[in-house]
Amino acid sequence: MSVRIEPSILTADFANLEAEVGRIATADAVHVDVMDNNFVPNLTFGPRMVERLQAVSPIPLDVHLMISDADRWAVGYAELGVMSVTFHVEAATDPVGVARAIRAAGSRAGVAVKPGTDLAPYLENLAEFDQLLVMTVEPGFGGQGFMTGMLKKVADARAAIDAAGVDVWLQVDGGISLETIERAAAAGADTFVAGSAVYGADDLDAAIAGLRAAAERVHRH
Ligand code: DX5
Ligand code: ZN
Repeated sequence: MSVRIEPSILTADFANLEAEVGRIATADAVHVDVMDNNFVPNLTFGPRMVERLQAVSPIPLDVHLMISDADRWAVGYAELGVMSVTFHVEAATDPVGVARAIRAAGSRAGVAVKPGTDLAPYLENLAEFDQLLVMTVEPGFGGQGFMTGMLKKVADARAAIDAAGVDVWLQVDGGISLETIERAAAAGADTFVAGSAVYGADDLDAAIAGLRAAAERVHRH
């Protein structure tokens, strides 16, 4: 199982995003949090910003849509050529249809669940998705505390992925730090979003390397 570290630019300097993505070239992808002030009580940016980030980023883009009406809007992000588009099942009426449209546009398709949402129905349809995102905070803001109660959801997802023998990435997002990444890795996550733990550090490469080493240590045992 490979470990992927994906810093979230939510905690980066929004006035200097090209430089900010340039600072995380040793990461596997840049996690881009799109928020609409409707699905979540916060507002970030939309497709034009994602398009420019895609053009200047040294590493692939992992887009996390925290927006309502994913059925209508998600495919437009995939059409920008990003590596991955993840939408929330709570915001989609036809998650499988949205995932198929994302794939047809050339991106990996991810589904995300808020802490209060059951992931089990989607574990029966794993061939339709490339990534499962288990939110480990309530979506909307960086810098919140990791919700330990989500570890069982991660472990159940890992068991389902392994049983199905599919190559679906299992991502966690929210409160991931050197203190919490080992528990998430032990539960079976392989793809780790970290906002404040990376952009809040003085040495970003060292923060990325530290997170990676901690998760890999757990996966080896
Ligand atoms: C929260 C976002 C996260 C956020 C994580 O809604 O989806 O990606 O940036 O930030 P930290 O790592 O600080 O919890
Ligand atoms: Zn996110």
